[in-house]
Formats: sequence, structure tokens, C-alpha cells
Amino acid sequence: MILVTGATGQLGTIVVNELLKKVPASKLAVLVRDENKAATFQEQGVQVRVATYQDTAALTNALQGIEKLLLISSSDLNNRFEQHKNVVDAAKTAGVKHILYTGITMQNAATSPLKDFVSDHFRTEDYIKANGFTFTFLQNSLYAEVIPMFAGPQAVGTGIFFPAGDGKVSFASRQDLGEATANILATEGHENKTYQLTGAAAYSFADVATTLSSLANKPVNYTSPEPAAFEEALKGFGLPAEIIGMSLGFSAAIKHNDFEVVDTTLERLLGRKTTSLQAYLKTAYEL
Ligand SMILES: NC(=O)c1ccc[n+]([C@@H]2O[C@H](COP(=O)([O-])OP(=O)(O)OC[C@H]3O[C@@H](n4cnc5c(N)ncnc54)[C@H](OP(=O)(O)O)[C@@H]3O)[C@@H](O)[C@H]2O)c1
Repeated sequence: MILVTGATGQLGTIVVNELLKKVPASKLAVLVRDENKAATFQEQGVQVRVATYQDTAALTNALQGIEKLLLISSSDLNNRFEQHKNVVDAAKTAGVKHILYTGITMQNAATSPLKDFVSDHFRTEDYIKANGFTFTFLQNSLYAEVIPMFAGPQAVGTGIFFPAGDGKVSFASRQDLGEATANILATEGHENKTYQLTGAAAYSFADVATTLSSLANKPVNYTSPEPAAFEEALKGFGLPAEIIGMSLGFSAAIKHNDFEVVDTTLERLLGRKTTSLQAYLKTAYEL
């Protein structure tokens, strides 16, 4: 039996829907915190088990009879490592053999402006290994879906104002990552492997602007301001401090080239080309 956590999230939903094309629903379970959000999975015959990452007793109960567990990293940033540790501890008690974990592909992690933020991922991987599980680490690049978040949904009209300098990112779409993850879960041969799952090339935000320009057939400018000016601008829009902090952290890490790693594993696991930047932007910006 395979269980997917975070199954009602954006990546988890793709993983489960792709798995349903490859594995009988009777062999699938999902871990969710709100059962109502999993109604469509339940209707298709997927077992729905309820627990939060904070509740070790409920987690242990929910993981009974599971052989392969996909732990999708938490989006709740409060003590995130502790949440993951709870899942791993519960998996051990419940007798789970194999844990797959969605982390991050990053170079320069030790000196990254985001080193504290990403340390949760590497600590979780270390903890899974230290507890003797068969592991598969899915180190995902930044989602292509972060582009509209960072560049702005109106970037074609406004231009891009983001302090990432010339730093490049090997963006991968959630759909590609979710589909590849389902392929891994549905097949053997991934035991004790660490996969860096990235797009086929790395692009700067200047490249994003150039691609938008050619798709929209009009100039789209890219400005990389000083971080302090960017922070002031975001404060002026009334954005919450947490969002401002994340935007500053990610832009600094991109400028530091921490997400530039390119690897062909995602393409191999998909058995097709990954979604290109141009194709992603065309859809996302409806061009
Ligand atoms: N590589 C990247 O660019 C990137 C970008 C953003 C996030 N991430 C990481 O990748 C993960 C998956 O991405 P996503 O886009 O699918 O994120 P998402 O849509 O926010 O989904 C997060 C999932 O985690 C579940 N969750 C959050 N806190 C939980 C808790 N305390 N107990 C149990 N479940 C909990 C959520 O449950 P509900 O459905 O009930 O809300 C949701 O299903 C994120 O959680 C984050 O760690 C990566």
C-alpha cells in the first residue's frame, strides 16, 4: 500500500491523480488534515486517513499497513522539521519500510541566504536515513509556478521588478514533478537514491522577461532593484512581513545562483521532455 501525505495540496493532488492512472485505487491511501477536501479521492476508492503532522498518535494510526510513504514537505513553517520528524517516527512505529521525501535541489546550501530555511529539508533527509529506512529523496527545483508569484501576475504590463540579479533557476512545473513522482512511486529501482529534479535549462528573470516579450510581442522590462528598495515597495503594497521576508530570501538565493543546478533525471523519469519555460509562460500568462 502506498500513502501520499499533503494529498490535498497542489503537488499532492497531481501525484495522486497520476498514480490513479498507474496503480489500482485499492493500493492507494492519502493522509489529509481535512477529510472533506479528499472526497474525490475517496469516491475513486482511495483510502483517506486523517492526521496532522503535529499529531504523532493519529499519524501512527494512519500509517498502519503502509509500505511506501511519500512525505510531502509541510507548508506550515512553524517547527517544520519537528512535523517531519513526527511523521518519520510514526512511520517507524507503524512498520513503514520505504520513505520518499520531497526536498529541494540546491547548490551552495551552506552559504545560501536561505540556508536556515532549507536546513529543514536536509535535516529531514538525514533523519530518515539515520532511522534505517529505505529512502528516495526527490530534491525538487523551484516550481515554475513561483514565476508569477515573484514576477507578478501582471508582469507583461508592468515589467518585472525583482532583486534576483542575473541569477538563474532551473524551474520545473508542478505537473512534471508530480507526474515523475507518481512514476517513481509506481515502479521499483528507486531505493536509496537521491534525485535532483529540475527543468532542462536554467533561466534568469531577464530571460523570463525576454520570453514574455517575445510571446506578447511587446517589450517587457526586467529591473533588479536593491533589496532595500524592493522591501520598501512591498511594504507600500501592504504585504505581510512573512511574504516580504520570503520574497527577499528567495530573490537573494536566486541571485546567489543557488537554484541553477540542471539535471536530466526529471526528463528521464517522465520519458518525455520537461515543460519548457516558453510553454509554461504561454499558459500561465495566457499569451
Ligand atoms: N520547490 C518549490 O518551488 C516549492 C514551492 C512551494 C512549496 N514547496 C514545498 O513543497 C510542498 C508541496 O508543495 P505544494 O505546492 O503542494 O504546497 P501546498 O499546495 O501548500 O500543499 C501543502 C500540503 O501540506 C499539507 N499540510 C500543511 N501543513 C500540514 C500539517 N501541519 N499537517 C498535515 N498536512 C499539512 C497541506 O494540507 P491542506 O491541503 O489541508 O492545506 C497541503 O496538502 C510545500 O508544502 C512546501 O514544503 C516547494
